Amino acid sequence: MDGDDTPRLADASEADQIGRLLHDFNTEFETPSPGADVLSERLAVLLAGKSMFAILAGRPAFAVALVSVRPSVWYSGRVGLLDELYVEPNRRSEGTGSAILRLLSDHARAVGIDAIEINVDEGDVDAQRFYERHGYSSIEPETNERAFYYYQELRVPD
Ligand SMILES: CC(C)(COP(=O)(O)OP(=O)(O)OC[C@H]1O[C@@H](n2cnc3c(N)ncnc32)[C@H](O)[C@@H]1OP(=O)(O)O)[C@@H](O)C(=O)NCCC(=O)NCCS
Repeated sequence: MDGDDTPRLADASEADQIGRLLHDFNTEFETPSPGADVLSERLAVLLAGKSMFAILAGRPAFAVALVSVRPSVWYSGRVGLLDELYVEPNRRSEGTGSAILRLLSDHARAVGIDAIEINVDEGDVDAQRFYERHGYSSIEPETNERAFYYYQELRVPD
């Protein structure tokens, strides 16, 4: 990874690059996307606030992490949810995803985020191994039980 590829915190002015990468992510995995332009418009607003931040690698960017932040009654600080992590296919297995996770931890600690959550599909064993190598766990330490993620869509995404 050369100097320019070192992950960095993204600025709201880079929303178009993030939108493009998130659209590519969904396209690669055959998930619906509202399109890069719509995503970029939303991101420009969201990243200007305090409840979301992004990490990018490369100029132009080839990797992104998007994190939303919320308060939690169980921590004195806040909790971050890694909404998306994507490295373009031709740049995978070069250490960028790992470097992004390291910056995520460092930045999260620095801004008072006490825990980071990630949702991973059951079949995505590569990503599970990747996150576990970086200290993440799907096991509740007190009970040794596996955690599940439940959701219900109240509105179909547009
Ligand atoms: C997961 C991902 C972000 C890792 O980024 P990366 O830059 O390739 O990560 P690194 O080079 O630091 O580490 C490589 C590890 O990622 C794992 N990995 C997970 N998903 C992978 C994928 N789709 N393709 C290649 N490697 C993947 C590799 O298995 C490798 O671990 P291993 O050495 O134990 O096999 C990247 O592979 C990716 O964007 N995958 C597709 C999107 C995705 O699955 N995102 C996570 C959703 S929860």
